[in-house]
Amino acid sequence: MAFTSLEGKTVLVTGAAKRIGRSIAMRLYREKARVLIHYGNSRQDAEEVSALCGHAPIFQADLSKVSEIERLFQEVGPLDCLVNNAARFTKIDPLLVTEADWDFIHSTNLKAYFFCAQHAARQMLQSEHGGRIVNISSIGGIQAWPMYVHYCASKAGVIHMTKAMARAWAPKISVNSVAPGAIPFEEADSAPLQALKERTPAGRFGTGDEIADAVVYFLTATQFVTGQLTVVDGGLTLT
Ligand SMILES: NC(=O)c1ccc[n+]([C@@H]2O[C@H](COP(=O)([O-])OP(=O)(O)OC[C@H]3O[C@@H](n4cnc5c(N)ncnc54)[C@H](OP(=O)(O)O)[C@@H]3O)[C@@H](O)[C@H]2O)c1
Repeated sequence: MAFTSLEGKTVLVTGAAKRIGRSIAMRLYREKARVLIHYGNSRQDAEEVSALCGHAPIFQADLSKVSEIERLFQEVGPLDCLVNNAARFTKIDPLLVTEADWDFIHSTNLKAYFFCAQHAARQMLQSEHGGRIVNISSIGGIQAWPMYVHYCASKAGVIHMTKAMARAWAPKISVNSVAPGAIPFEEADSAPLQALKERTPAGRFGTGDEIADAVVYFLTATQFVTGQLTVVDGGLTLT
């Protein structure tokens, strides 16, 4: 079954107060979805997004803790769609990564994606029309970045976990992933970022709206599309 339209569909977007998550929430609102905005610390930004999304409900939770995920899913109620977006990013020499550094990244980027999807799937499997899950990964899950080994591992985990979840919960739930390339939101005029831009076949950075386009595709596609990865990177991974 296809969700041909998102009108009236309940969609939780994690980490929706800022940047890509905010773009996704605002795009889903324009698609007439009932958007639920999750945030961690950025309450004021979340309230701003809420106001821009027709006073959409906002929910706080530290997703690195499974007990908070359980509470969050009790609060949000049944969902049609989940967008796992909230994640952390740190640059650390792999020779210096500590257990705490590893857990800081993996507790949110991989463990939280798993438990949010698990809680959503338990509800969606009870629903007549099933559900849709989109996991935002990264080209860091495909490419090998020497100063981000711990982060690359978390995002490669998201990409493979997406395929295993798709198989576990087919045919009622489709699970797909969007891997953004470089989507800066601040000044991007540092030498490394300029070099990255020049290496990108598209000749520019991407935008949050371009990531949102791919999310909307997966949320409205037939459930025959499942376990897939769409890379939105201006061709960077081709170089
Ligand atoms: N931007 C890029 O260039 C890029 C490239 C590749 C992939 N991605 C992926 O795209 C997604 C969005 O990227 P972004 O750059 O927009 O992300 P971001 O700004 O780094 O993070 C998005 C939000 O995640 C929330 N968050 C992080 N850890 C959390 C936790 N433990 N509990 C609750 N909320 C938590 C934060 O919410 P609060 O502010 O409310 O605390 C934050 O605003 C991420 O999955 C990222 O890995 C981004």
